[in-house]
Order: sequence, then structure tokens, then C-alpha cells
Amino acid sequence: MMTQSKLETKLLRLLRNARGLHISGEELSQKLNITRSAIWKHIESLREAGYRISASPHRGYQFLGAPDRLLPDELKDALPNKLIGRQILCFESLDSTNRLALEMGAKGSPEGLTIFAEEQTKGRGRLGRSWASPKGKGLYFSILLRPLLQIHQIPKITLTAAVAICQALGEMSDLKVSIRWPNDLLVGQRKIGGILTEMNAESDRILYIVVGIGINVNSGPRQLPEGATSLKEQTRKAWDRCALAIKILEKIEGHYRKLIAGDFKELASLWESYSLISGRRISATTLVGKCEGTALGIDEDGALWIREDNGLQTKVLSGDIVHVR
Ligand code: BTN
Repeated sequence: MMTQSKLETKLLRLLRNARGLHISGEELSQKLNITRSAIWKHIESLREAGYRISASPHRGYQFLGAPDRLLPDELKDALPNKLIGRQILCFESLDSTNRLALEMGAKGSPEGLTIFAEEQTKGRGRLGRSWASPKGKGLYFSILLRPLLQIHQIPKITLTAAVAICQALGEMSDLKVSIRWPNDLLVGQRKIGGILTEMNAESDRILYIVVGIGINVNSGPRQLPEGATSLKEQTRKAWDRCALAIKILEKIEGHYRKLIAGDFKELASLWESYSLISGRRISATTLVGKCEGTALGIDEDGALWIREDNGLQTKVLSGDIVHVR
């Protein structure tokens, strides 16, 4: 697991807050109440961890950039007093962040726990598929939630995450990201991310839910499965994965709070605007079979309604959707 000393977190905060200007060893030593040589030792250790910090005898230290790694302190520092991300764990490698989050959920970890991995060796996709998770190239993370919702309302949680990701990407770029119900994030027809919601429930009561999010961020074409694309491929620039993760977690928090307060209206209309599904002809493959017809939209539980050609209206809670035309 990756961690940083409390002092180094404070030191980094001071360096960053200088916003590109130099800050003297003297000032840092006074603010942190340690000697100048101790400051130097911590700067060296931050450099070893990949931070770019310049040092000049006359002007002091200058923050030049963070390593391309997901670090719990960096993430936590940007999300003070938040529910989502109240505890953040980052791993160099894991089989699956969803697997660990479910295990920690069973052991009583609190709502909001968020687990990141630089790579996953057994990343899980929906319907038993796998999720390609090349090292340091994407965002692979899982959030543990304990909402007071009934099982049939679970699709709302997936929709919350999907809308949050679309909004975050929309604010950080001019990419047009759309949602293919329930959980695929597309640019054009190619998949840029996906969501896997797993849970543990007792009769009709949810004990805990894990929302697993995978986004292809800086992957090159050879690291991507067929039909997939990455943010880097689409925008022709490398992305700051940490900044993107923070933005997504903030957006999820905002929508999740409204959702558990019983307000699903805004989320549903945002979802409609990103999904562009209503009125389109679609084919849905579900666990109980296939149905084709016109998508009518989502209901107050987040379920998709389809009007089949015989006029029958069918509710789909999970499955795979293909836009027929
Ligand atoms: C899909 O589109 O099929 C869903 C993909 C979900 C992948 C994410 S990556 C982080 C989390 N951990 C997993 O094992 N899967 C999800």
C-alpha cells in the first residue's frame, strides 16, 4: 500500500500553495517547526517518490510537478470532510478493487471507503467479463456504500456514477461522453469506461454496495481491447489521473447525497441528456432473454422501460443494450 508521512503531506501542501513561486527553506522550517536540514531530507524523500521539486540556495524550493501515481494523501488532501473518500487506499497492484471493497464491506468498513489500484490482475467487468487494467494507465477504483435503499433501486447507484463521470469529463475537456444503459461510457461508439456495481443484501435490504469504476485514461491503442478507446487517444494529451479521480469523487458525492435524500429528479434528467436513448430502437439482452423495441427512458428506480413491437412495455433492470438504429 502507498503512503506518505504526515510531515511530507504538510510540506507538499505548502509547496503547492506557493503556486509556482519559490518558498525558502527558512520559511518552511518555521512553518513546520523542524530544522532546515530536516526539510532537505524530506524534500529528497519526496523527490525519490517522483515529485519534481527544484532547489536553489538563494531562492529556496519550487514545486514543479507530482508523480503520475495515485497517492492516498494527495487524494485525501483534496477531499476534506467528504463522505466519499473518507478513507482512501491505493495499491500498486490488486486482483480487483471490487473484490477487496466487498471483503472490507463484509468486515464492517465504513461507507465512503474508496480503493484504488495502479493495476488489476483480475479486473472484473459485467456479466463475468474481465476488465483490462494496464499498470499506471487508467483509473480502477471501488467505492463502498451503505445506502438505505431497496434492492430494486440499485440501478440508481450505477446511474449516479455514470452521470458523475460524464460531468467530470465534460468539465475537464470538450469530449462528448455518452452513456449506454446502464453502465457503459462511450465516446462515439467506443468504450472509454465502465461501471460494475456489486452488493450484498439480506431479504430486500441492502447491506452494502460496491461501485467499481474503470476508465481508460492514458492507455495506448495496443493496451486497449477491441472497441475501446482512452481519454489520451481521444484528446491527444496525457491526463492527470489524480485530478480526474478527485473530480469524479466530488461529483459522485453531490449526486449520492441528493439520491439518499430522496431526490432522483435532477439525476434522472441529467442521465437522459447523456444517454440519448429515449425514442431510439434498441435491443436488450437480459438474463431472462432478449427483447427489442423502442426505449422509453428510465423510471424512478433507474430501471429502463422498452416498448416492444407488440405494444407490451417491459422493464429492464440489468442487461446489455445495443442501439439498433
Ligand atoms: C464493465 O463495463 O463491464 C464494468 C467494468 C468495471 C471495471 C472496474 S475497474 C475497478 C473495479 N474493480 C473491478 O474488478 N472492476 C471494476
